[in-house]
Amino acid sequence: MILSSVELNNFRNYEREIFEFDSSRNVILGKNAQGKSNLLEAIYLLCLTRSFRTRKERETIKFNKTFASIAGKFVLDNGQEKNIVYYFTPDKGKQVSVNRKRVEKLSEIIGNFPVVISSPEAYNLTSGAPADRRKFLDILLSQISNQYILNLQEYNKIIKQRNAILNKYSHNRSKIISLIQPWDEYLIEKGSWLIRFRDSFLKTFNVKLRDVHSMISVPDETIKLTYQSTVDFENSDDVKPNFRKKLEAMKKIEIEQGNTIIGPHRDDILFFINDKELRKYGSRGQHKTVLIAIMISEFQLIIEKIHETPIILIDDLFSEIDHTREDKILSYILDLGQNFISTTLDYHEALAFFNKKRAHLFELNNGMIFRNEKI
Ligand SMILES: Nc1ncnc2c1ncn2[C@@H]1O[C@H](COP(=O)(O)OP(=O)(O)O)[C@@H](O)[C@H]1O
Ligand SMILES: [Mg+2]
Repeated sequence: MILSSVELNNFRNYEREIFEFDSSRNVILGKNAQGKSNLLEAIYLLCLTRSFRTRKERETIKFNKTFASIAGKFVLDNGQEKNIVYYFTPDKGKQVSVNRKRVEKLSEIIGNFPVVISSPEAYNLTSGAPADRRKFLDILLSQISNQYILNLQEYNKIIKQRNAILNKYSHNRSKIISLIQPWDEYLIEKGSWLIRFRDSFLKTFNVKLRDVHSMISVPDETIKLTYQSTVDFENSDDVKPNFRKKLEAMKKIEIEQGNTIIGPHRDDILFFINDKELRKYGSRGQHKTVLIAIMISEFQLIIEKIHETPIILIDDLFSEIDHTREDKILSYILDLGQNFISTTLDYHEALAFFNKKRAHLFELNNGMIFRNEKI
């Protein structure tokens, strides 16, 4: 898939701007706070109907304006053109159309316009909180499997209902026990499905990540990830019975806390380099390299699973990578499909850096295109 153009209206610091993109490489320059991340946010939002920065879409409306809109022209791998228009007002919320047809259920779009992103603002995968890693996993798996989105949505409803019971009757244990029983069954059913799906996916992902990482990192560094579930299991048949046992064992604590604490909504992923946990011992450079390797692995897996090439968004590529890694990583990514790379390099540095690589360069200044040229 390729995004050939985007038009922004009252989105963040853009009043009205049109970008015509290169089908492979787009380099976004600009000093701090000029609109680089805002542009990538808009592209991401078009693909997934949600921002990577906020769940409060009203924040994306340009100050003192009443709506925000983003329109994008996509060309799928099979040549089909898809025009997506996203329109947001505080009153009516999000409205999305594809080729002028209103999309009623936004989750149906997810996976049709695949995207991968590496951004310090999207999710701090290797150093952030478990919730960041779950978000990453949920978004990736939602792009790969419609069944996953549906089960995840149902699971989240179950958690909400179950928590409501745990909360409401916190002083009436027997009432909780009687009311919660059917919800326990739903929780175990859907939760086990999600855990098994994630576990099986992460095994494939682990192999891919190790290969990609070995190509772009320094020699002798081997990455590994493991799925850290609140339910212990050896193989997938164990998940359901073990879920049930653990839930029983933790019921007393759940009632005390008024919260569901067992299940995939509390799971995590651990990353290791040479068997040392990255979060605890990794250097900044190692983190950044792993983040890029994760993104490239996602890119490859999405193609394998859904046969549509994702677009690639990289915010602030060069912050924190040391020079020996930069060239390797860059030359790898620049040939991968359509990419959008933002950097705070200045114009001359960027020309020197991207020399001999055909690309379209945009330099932003205060929400406007200040320089727009092919290099
Ligand atoms: N809703 C909004 N309306 C107008 N300006 C905004 C809005 N949201 C963010 N901004 C502005 O956008 C700028 C940040 O843009 P961003 O794309 O994050 O910068 P960078 O180029 O460093 O990535 C800031 O100046 C911020 O004030
Ligand atoms: Mg930024």
